[in-house]
Amino acid sequence: MADPISRTGAVPIVTLRSLAETNCRQRKGGLESMTSPDEKTVQRYESVLGKLDEETRQASPSVLIAVADRDASVLQSRMAEGGDAGPPLSGGGLEAQFGEGLTGGDVWGWISSVFDHVDKNAWHPIVPPPNDTVGTFADAGRIVVIGDWGTNLYGAPVSAASIKRTGNYEMLLHVGDIYYSGTDKETKQRFLDVWPTSAGKVSRALNGNHEMYSGGYAYFDSILPKFKQPSSYFVVQNAHWLLVGLDTAHTDHAVDMKQVDWLKRIVQKAGQRKLILFSHHQPFSRLDKQGPNLQAALADLFQRKAITAWYWGHEHNCIIYDKHSTFGFLGRCIGHGGIPSPRKGAVRDADLDHRVGSVAWKRLSATGDSPACLALDGENPLVPGEEKKFGPHGYLTLEFNGPDLIEHVHLPSREKMAELDRP
Ligand SMILES: [Fe+2]
Repeated sequence: MADPISRTGAVPIVTLRSLAETNCRQRKGGLESMTSPDEKTVQRYESVLGKLDEETRQASPSVLIAVADRDASVLQSRMAEGGDAGPPLSGGGLEAQFGEGLTGGDVWGWISSVFDHVDKNAWHPIVPPPNDTVGTFADAGRIVVIGDWGTNLYGAPVSAASIKRTGNYEMLLHVGDIYYSGTDKETKQRFLDVWPTSAGKVSRALNGNHEMYSGGYAYFDSILPKFKQPSSYFVVQNAHWLLVGLDTAHTDHAVDMKQVDWLKRIVQKAGQRKLILFSHHQPFSRLDKQGPNLQAALADLFQRKAITAWYWGHEHNCIIYDKHSTFGFLGRCIGHGGIPSPRKGAVRDADLDHRVGSVAWKRLSATGDSPACLALDGENPLVPGEEKKFGPHGYLTLEFNGPDLIEHVHLPSREKMAELDRP
């Protein structure tokens, strides 16, 4: 029998093969499993396989894939933590396999119990700030913003190393998503143990949908205390800027009214400071779903054009938007921190704006939902063997100097892809 993957120290990867090659479908009559599954469980399992199959076709059978689906993410987490060690994958990590230790030979019983756990929906309650106290950061200083970084594979550790090497940041901010579902083990192995803590005066983490797939317990009970972060939404300011991190994951792709009221109070007291928002989910998108609930909840700020810039993750791309003609802010998607994202045809085929070294900025036109934008395109040398298929990883740094803000877009090595001083 193979060793449980958790004993190897390698990062586990749960592929479509991991979950499909159990021949569970042939066991649904209970012939090889102690439990005879009900039709609903079979349908949910089939649905998980369907979603992973679709993602695998776009990505690769041999890299870490994640889908925005609770059943799939929790099944992947449980197998990653308890499955047997399979073969090493070319881009890093070990492929997880079903093992007797995981299921006790009762595969359907195991799947049913995982789904039952998910169905309880006993999420950790959101943790609001204890009061309206506003933290501070230096008038001249830099912060790091990185998104969807919780893989500990591919570009993620390389970015962490270059952030650590540079150091002296006012704040390190993760805008959410630890794969597969932000469990205790995943949070430790793929986030806390490898976060470049020493590079920043403070670290902050936003909640993501994948953290909430396990109920958010590791996020709220491990990350927040470790970062001395009192709540899942927060605010810091200096003489010229007000930086607000939102929790858009506890109320999926939206914010609760208590949070909205808090934000309004904070903004009201901020005087002439320019407002920058950070969140896991996107308020709008050129390439993915829109955020109508987020737009509705913050309609007042949108109508008053009170937001200067907004940084988000969730979509695994690096996109720099022109100023939104209605909302009046500059949007930036930076969810390209650590998960292999297949290069989208819409980006690959778009007009070249300019090249920087081995990568290119492509120009995408405006749509009814989104302003025109620049999207980062190119190969990803940090996914060995499949470099051409996946877009670059990386992160942003924001350099504040009094009223001026310069945004720097970096590859994981810290090589600079863009320098923007438009806000
Ligand atoms: Fe996400």
